[in-house]
Amino acid sequence: MGPDSFDPLLMTGGSRFLRACLKKPVDRPPVWFLRQAGRYMAEYREVRKHHTLVEICKRPEIAAEVTITAAEKLGVDAAIIFADLLLPLEPMGLDFEFVAGEGPMVHHPLRTVESIEKLRTDRAGQLEYVAAAIEKVAGHFGDQLGIIGFCGAPFTLASYMIEGGSSRNYIFTKQMMYAEPYAWQKLLDKLVTVLVAFCKQQVDAGADVIQIFDSWVGSLSVEDYRDYVLPVTKRLVRAVQEMGVPVIYFGVDTASLLPAMRETGADVIGLDWRTPLDEGWRSMDYACAVQGNLDPITLFAPQPILETRVKQVLAQADGRPGHIFNLGHGIVPGTPVENVQAVVKMVKAFSRPSGLLISKDFVAGEVSNG
Ligand code: CP3
Repeated sequence: MGPDSFDPLLMTGGSRFLRACLKKPVDRPPVWFLRQAGRYMAEYREVRKHHTLVEICKRPEIAAEVTITAAEKLGVDAAIIFADLLLPLEPMGLDFEFVAGEGPMVHHPLRTVESIEKLRTDRAGQLEYVAAAIEKVAGHFGDQLGIIGFCGAPFTLASYMIEGGSSRNYIFTKQMMYAEPYAWQKLLDKLVTVLVAFCKQQVDAGADVIQIFDSWVGSLSVEDYRDYVLPVTKRLVRAVQEMGVPVIYFGVDTASLLPAMRETGADVIGLDWRTPLDEGWRSMDYACAVQGNLDPITLFAPQPILETRVKQVLAQADGRPGHIFNLGHGIVPGTPVENVQAVVKMVKAFSRPSGLLISKDFVAGEVSNG
């Protein structure tokens, strides 16, 4: 069979997800959720009674169990490994903790060139616990589900390291970016070194796809993104692709940045819900696959409204190959689990079984357009 033909009867969640990442036709769009394992789920809250977040991440058997439980409970096509964006800070020499109600806190935020010079890039091996968890999840699911490894993007991680935690205006981050070009570049370079090693561990352990979270990149103007962030992000994306896996690149509040984000060469761009999916995709000339983009708070809406919004996202994707159904950002605590499960059922029920036909037309159209 050629790359664009497939047997729908043989399609697993894993093959459906991977094919969609590569813009190949599928029987229906794959579906998974950002933060699908988290506090909205009773099983996760139960595990959290006995372990801190970082403990769960560092114990592969628990991280794998949390990952598997969430994916199975929801009936999704892909499982994202349970871990956290900030884990690489520790082997680089920056201690942090999660403070209840306040989010992450970095104890000694980076404000000087000297503190950046001191960061270590030779201890990514300490992060092997994430790969160990991936190995367990991959062993459990085989090809049945797509296994997603992930890391933070250089800008978003740098923002936590410089600000010391979450931020509204990113003043310290942007100050360093503008006024300390050497320090800024040094920090991003060090991050890429560690992140490439970290992603390699995850891919070797069985991750099918790597998602790069640039959650807070939407705080940048297009010009700043291009001048200070795009080149280093492109390097990371390329390096991961050279490991043989597709890359999903995700950020929030990115409407105006999408064409520039597309220039990273990522296979899939994650869209937040503020940009209508079709507009966002069109702004990138349909050159990549897209993931998204239901507003996560729609999961609190009555069923008929939820249904309308799910149908609208599917209609905007219009059966084009390369749509992965997801939210525009993570599931928040308090979300009714049954509504998340209902969305999975809706995607399965409402997406056109003629996706193949539509996809063929689309593929044919692409060919005839040269
Ligand atoms: O199912 C999944 O998506 C699994 C795992 C996952 C977590 N964090 C676990 C977690 C993933 C993919 C992340 C990524 C992450 N971590 C991001 C990028 C994703 C995004 O939302 O844009 C960011 C920005 C972080 C940093 C981080 N971790 C923050 C800001 C917080 C605190 C916020 C809060 O709600 O308290 C965390 C904590 C965290 N990481 C939780 C989970 C399930 C919730 C807290 C807990 O269990 O104590």
